[in-house]
Amino acid sequence: MADAYDLIVIGTGPGGYVCAIRAAQLGLKVAVVEKRETYGGTCLNIGCIPSKALLHASEMFDEAGHGFEKLGIKVGTPKLDLKGMMKHKDEVVEANVSGVAFLFKKNKIDTYQGTGKVEGPGKVSVTPDKGKAQTLETKAIVIATGSASANLPGIEVDEKQIVSSTGGLELTKVPDHLVVVGAGVIGLELGSVWRRLGAKVTVVEFLDTVLPGMDGEVRKQFKRMLEKQGLEFKLSSKVTGVEKSGKKLKVSVEPAKGGEAATLDADIVLVSIGRTPYTEGLGLKEAGVEMDERGRVKTGDGFKTNVDGIYAIGDVIAGPMLAHKAEDEGIAVAEILAGQHGHVNYDTIPSVVYTHPEVAVVGKTEEQLKEAGIEYRAGKFPFTANGRARAMNATEGFVKFLADKKTDEVLGCHIVGVGAGEMIHEVCVLMEFKGAAEDLGRICHAHPTMSEAVREASLAVDKRPIHM
Ligand code: FAD
Ligand code: NAI
Repeated sequence: MADAYDLIVIGTGPGGYVCAIRAAQLGLKVAVVEKRETYGGTCLNIGCIPSKALLHASEMFDEAGHGFEKLGIKVGTPKLDLKGMMKHKDEVVEANVSGVAFLFKKNKIDTYQGTGKVEGPGKVSVTPDKGKAQTLETKAIVIATGSASANLPGIEVDEKQIVSSTGGLELTKVPDHLVVVGAGVIGLELGSVWRRLGAKVTVVEFLDTVLPGMDGEVRKQFKRMLEKQGLEFKLSSKVTGVEKSGKKLKVSVEPAKGGEAATLDADIVLVSIGRTPYTEGLGLKEAGVEMDERGRVKTGDGFKTNVDGIYAIGDVIAGPMLAHKAEDEGIAVAEILAGQHGHVNYDTIPSVVYTHPEVAVVGKTEEQLKEAGIEYRAGKFPFTANGRARAMNATEGFVKFLADKKTDEVLGCHIVGVGAGEMIHEVCVLMEFKGAAEDLGRICHAHPTMSEAVREASLAVDKRPIHM
């Protein structure tokens, strides 16, 4: 029997690795178990990081081809070196995953490569790809095994022609026609990448909108922006089958409510219809750990499962499947295990879609406020009226604040615009401190910045923006 630990974390995604580091900082003896060869989970290996590398590179390619001339720069037609772009992506991933390995060493965290299985409270077995399994002892176990792409029934993902996001980040050739199933975050981000690199992109979405769940005004205007970039949408539609014929695919699309099927010719189909919690081979059922109706590990106060000493965080439990949500839960559970009072405020978790322009939101949508019967005032400011945005040719989009009608407390903020993902954070801070729209309106913002539009939108709640 190996050493006894205070904590063993299964999975080293943003939830698991951050949890392990925070626990080690607080003096706990910690080990992590990871079945991949590299650390960092979905996010660093096949998710957030590689997708952002390709989003950025493809944006630069598009900018060089279509944006430079307006700024008085002539570069001719840029040529795509897809291999070079993929190399950039792979190097970024490598730097990040080895960064996590360094942090484990620095914090004296023991690492075990292999599949972790809960053998009961206080016992975790590790089965490596090669070699013998061993059992470790620990006071607490944190399950941070994340999620995997959801499948479309009857359609087999081969990661070559029919791909999940993983294959969609690895294509060796720009497809002539990419059919994306699902107009959620992955579909729109990866659809944008391949559209900018030259593919025709058709997005088939079951519901009657892109980005379901987001604020209605954002969804409507954002879809128009994507259409202007050349993405085509088939809303209220479902893919019912994909037939392979050599290098080509025949995609059957039906109205969501049923009806006559149409066929789309494609060379790649990207399935991005959501993700499901990953609990395969973990031994949770045998250990008596309860799951919810959607196959997620059920947790109560302090991320505890129903079995003493077993906790869970990140994509494998309820809540938005976001890296920063997983990280914050990792920190909170580590602090709880060290006797502190870790907690996560789910009302101020931002969400960002890293398209061009970006969409960044925090808090409630207008639809949610209406449904809850909460009276609110809205303030909106367009980037067309912002000097820096004009200077940068980035006038698409707007900032919208929603504040309580009586108290002026900010209840939500929705930004569509270049750099929205950075700008949203001042609103997160404001909301964390229960700030009012007027509070933000009275804070000096540097000129000229895109963030001035955030301030102006907060002033617009009281109908007094200066530049509109
Ligand atoms: P994961 O990151 O999924 O990590 C779980 C780890 O557990 C994996 O390494 C897995 O190998 C390991 N594991 C599983 N079972 C076992 C076992 N039995 N034994 C040992 N190890 C095991 N979120 C954002 O916030 N921003 C983004 O920009 C963003 N972009 C994304 C882009 C894509 C293409 C995808 C697919 C996702 C993206 N996400 C993004 C979502 C984000 O990746 C997840 O929310 C996040 O990774 C969840 O973290 P986690 O720690 O819960 O799990
Ligand atoms: P998603 O939940 O964002 O979107 C899935 C979309 O597919 C929805 O619009 C849904 O209505 C649609 N859909 C479901 N079944 C369908 C069907 N049969 N036919 C057509 N459409 C169908 O899921 P996605 O894009 O796969 O992303 C998974 C998770 O990864 C998300 O929860 C997201 O939070 C996370 N992620 C976050 C990113 C970010 O923060 N920037 C980037 C990428 C992923």
